[in-house]
Amino acid sequence: MNQRRFLITGALPYSNGRLHVGHVAGAYLPADIYVRYLRAAGADVRFICGSDDNGVAALKTAREQGRSVEELTAFYNQSQRQAFAGLGIRFDIYGGTHQSDYVRLHERFSQEFFLRIYEKGLFTKRTSRQLYDVEAGQFLPDRFVRGTCPHCASDNAYGDQCENCGRALDQTELIDPVSEMTRTRPELRETRHWYLRLDQLQGRLSEWLAGKKDPATAGAHWRPVVINQSLGRIEAEGLPERAMTRDLTWGVPVPLDDPDARGKSLYVWFDAPIGYVSFTAALCQREGGSAEEYAAWWKDPDCKVVHFIGEDNIVFHAIIWPAMMLATHESGSAQGAAGEYQLPHNVVANSFLNIRFPGKDEEKISKTRGTAIWIEDYLRILPPDPLRYYLTAIAPESQRSTFDVDDFLARNNGELGNALGNFFNRCVSFAHKYFDGRVPDAGRRDAVDAEQLGRCAAAVQKVAAELEACHFKAAQGEMMALARAGNAYFDITKPFMSRKTDMAACGRAINVCLQTARTLTTLMAPFLPFSAEKAAKMLGLEGQFSSANAATSPRMPRPYELWASATQELPPGHPLGAAEVLFPRMDGAEVFGA
Ligand code: MF3
Ligand code: ZN
Repeated sequence: MNQRRFLITGALPYSNGRLHVGHVAGAYLPADIYVRYLRAAGADVRFICGSDDNGVAALKTAREQGRSVEELTAFYNQSQRQAFAGLGIRFDIYGGTHQSDYVRLHERFSQEFFLRIYEKGLFTKRTSRQLYDVEAGQFLPDRFVRGTCPHCASDNAYGDQCENCGRALDQTELIDPVSEMTRTRPELRETRHWYLRLDQLQGRLSEWLAGKKDPATAGAHWRPVVINQSLGRIEAEGLPERAMTRDLTWGVPVPLDDPDARGKSLYVWFDAPIGYVSFTAALCQREGGSAEEYAAWWKDPDCKVVHFIGEDNIVFHAIIWPAMMLATHESGSAQGAAGEYQLPHNVVANSFLNIRFPGKDEEKISKTRGTAIWIEDYLRILPPDPLRYYLTAIAPESQRSTFDVDDFLARNNGELGNALGNFFNRCVSFAHKYFDGRVPDAGRRDAVDAEQLGRCAAAVQKVAAELEACHFKAAQGEMMALARAGNAYFDITKPFMSRKTDMAACGRAINVCLQTARTLTTLMAPFLPFSAEKAAKMLGLEGQFSSANAATSPRMPRPYELWASATQELPPGHPLGAAEVLFPRMDGAEVFGA
C-alpha cells in the first residue's frame, strides 16, 4: 500500500494578541492530535501554521499600543509560537504572512495567485464609495470609523457592525461618522476594487459541498455545521461578488500595473489562506528542497489537505478559499485535476468555549473583561497534558461548551490521576515489589485474561476509527475506557490477594495489566504526548517508542510504527523503569490565582 499523505493546517492566528484556551480547543489541539495519530499510523504528514499579520486587526492594535505594526506582529508571532510549543502543539513550520523570514515568499505566492485569477477573467473592477480621512490622507477601514447606528441610534457603532444592536452595517450608512485615526469627519470618495466573481463559481462550489454530505462518498467525515453553514449560505443568498482588495498599505501590494491599484493591498482574507501554501513552500526549502515542491502537497490528488478552524472561519474555508482555488483551475473537475490546487479533503470546525470560574456564573471568554485563561499564564504554573486532556474532554465539536475551573481540577484528579495515572502506578509498583521490576510470565491465560487483552485490541481499533473521523472527544473517551477496564481487571483478578496464595496467578494478572499499560501508552500518545513519554519510560520503552513519538517531519522511517506496536506484548522478563506519578493532584488554591 502506498503511504498516505496529509497536509494539515491550523487557522493562522492574528498576531495582535495572546492565545487563550478557546483558540487552542477550537483549532490547534485537535489538529495536533490528528497529526500525531496520523504519523503514528504511518502517514507522511506536514503540519502548517503561522501568524496572520496583514490587514486591519494588527494595524489597529499597533495604533492603540503606540508601537509599529512590524514590531507588534513580530512580538505576538513569537509569543504564540512559544505558547504552542509549551502545549506540545508541534507544527512543522510556524511562519507569518509578514514576518521577515517569510514575507517575500508569501508575497510572491499571493501575487501569483491573484494574477492567475486575474488572467482567468474572474475579477471585475468596480467603483464604490468609501469614507476618506482627509487629514490622514487615506481611506478608512470599517473598524477605523465610528458613528451613530441608523437602526438603533447608538452613537458607538463601527463601520461594519453596531455592537449595541448587533446589525451588520456598511460604513456609508453611519450617521455622523468620525475617523478613529484623527477624530475628524471623513468624507465619501470613490474608490476602485477588484471583486472575485463568486457568482461564476457558485455552481461548482455547491456541487462540491453537496458531495461532502455523505461520508461514504466524500471519503471524509464533514461536520454538519460546516456543510450547513456554507451550503445554506449559497442556497439562501447566492454568492455576490466580493472585493479582494483594500485601500490599505499594510499587506500584500496589488500586483497590477494600473493607477487604481496604487496604495492598495490584497484583502487579508485573500492572502491569509495562501499563507498555508507559502509556508509549505518555505518548509520544503528548509527540508533541503526548493519552494516549488509545495506542489507535491497542494496539487497532488494523493495528498489530502485538512484545515482545522474555529466556527467563525467556516465561510472563508469552505466557500471563499475553495472558490479562490477553483478560480485558478483550467479543468472543470470539482476537486481539482492533477497539477491543480486540490480542494480540501475536510474542513474541521469547532465552536467556542465559555468559561466559569469558581463561585461565578458562566460567561463568554473576553479579553476586555478579563475572563480568559491565557496559555502563557497557565503554562507558568501547570503542566500541559492536563489542559490538553480537559480541552479534548469538553471539546466544542458540535456546540459551545464550558471551561469550568472546578471541573478541570476534578477531572485532573479523578480521571487522569485516579483512573489513568494510578493504573500505571499500581501495576508498575507491584511488579517492582514482587517481580523484581520485570514483566512476570504470562502463564496459561484464562478467559478473563483473554477478554482483557481483547479489550486492548478493540480499543486500538475504536480509538483509530474515531480519530480517522475527527471525533477527538470520543477517541479520547475510548482511551480512558480502556484505562478503567484495566483498573476493573486489576480489582477482579486481585493480584494483591493471589500474591499470598498463588504466585503464578498473580504473575498472570500483572502480566496482562502491563500489556494493557503498554497499549494505553500508545493510545495516550496523540492526546497526552508528555505523559506518554513518561509512561513509556516506566514500561522500559524509552528507545523506539520515544524516538517515534518525538519525531516530526520527515517522519520516522518504517518499520517501527507507533500505532501498530500498541498490542505488541512486552516479553516476560522485560525490565521496567521506575514507577512515577503521571498526573500529580492539583488543588484549587494553586490554580488560576484562586
Ligand atoms: N486570522 C484568522 C482568525 O483568527 C484566521 C485566518 S485563517 C487563514 O480568525 F486561512 F486565513 F489563514
Ligand atoms: Zn445599532
